[in-house]
Amino acid sequence: MGHHRSCKNGLWKPIGVTISYLAVPFNVSFRARSFFVPNSRKMTTIRRFCCNDLLRFTSVNLDHLTETFNMSFYMTYLARWPDYFHVAEGPGNRIMGYIMGKVEGQGESWHGHVTAVTVSPEYRRQQLAKKLMNLLEDISDKIDKAYFVDLFVRASNTPAIKMYEKLGYVIYRRVLRYYSGEEDGLDMRKALSRDVEKKSIIPLKRPVTPDELEYD
Ligand SMILES: CC(C)(COP(=O)(O)OP(=O)(O)OC[C@H]1O[C@@H](n2cnc3c(N)ncnc32)[C@H](O)[C@@H]1OP(=O)(O)O)[C@@H](O)C(=O)NCCC(=O)NCCS
Repeated sequence: MGHHRSCKNGLWKPIGVTISYLAVPFNVSFRARSFFVPNSRKMTTIRRFCCNDLLRFTSVNLDHLTETFNMSFYMTYLARWPDYFHVAEGPGNRIMGYIMGKVEGQGESWHGHVTAVTVSPEYRRQQLAKKLMNLLEDISDKIDKAYFVDLFVRASNTPAIKMYEKLGYVIYRRVLRYYSGEEDGLDMRKALSRDVEKKSIIPLKRPVTPDELEYD
């Protein structure tokens, strides 16, 4: 796994030319990247998600369990919570997966939120989602001093639920017909170090409806 690097590091500056990403044909920009990035031979690099990644992540999003949002949604996340948006790249700068999230809430409800995490089928079961999740949890815990991290998952998405449980998440509550008014969602939570008594993860005794949720 490569070290974290931001979009600013090492990719375009060495070329010494100011160019718009959109103006450059993809094959040219990729070649320039691998040539100028010293650690490009490493198997996987996790770095911050950039605007131009939005034009390259379609293959990952084809998965039916991966939500696709509109561009302004992604841009809002990039602008407001850049620390919570990371991509994993493999050889040839192929996008292997990504995680996007945010931090929100007040008082003891101050928490990190995983909005999307997905790994392309050919790269699954290599601990990649785990690493992306751990990264987001670390940022929530150590930088933002949040009390917990939460996420919503389809009640039928057994692989993802198993993964979250393996990572220490518990089902905090069921949200009735959360997905398109049809399928229930599970609101899963993991307490962070600031929640010493682990109060944030005590499960609710009854399911809730989407209009009872505190946040979007
Ligand atoms: C869920 C998903 C992100 C997991 O990604 P991944 O990189 O394969 O997961 P990891 O390799 O980090 O898995 C870590 C652990 O989670 C558990 N796990 C992951 N996938 C699992 C599966 N299909 N079945 C059972 N357990 C699973 C395992 O315990 C695994 O550890 P192990 O491989 O040592 O047994 C991936 O399957 C995916 O992108 N699914 C489609 C999108 C999606 O459902 N996203 C979540 C929406 S809420």
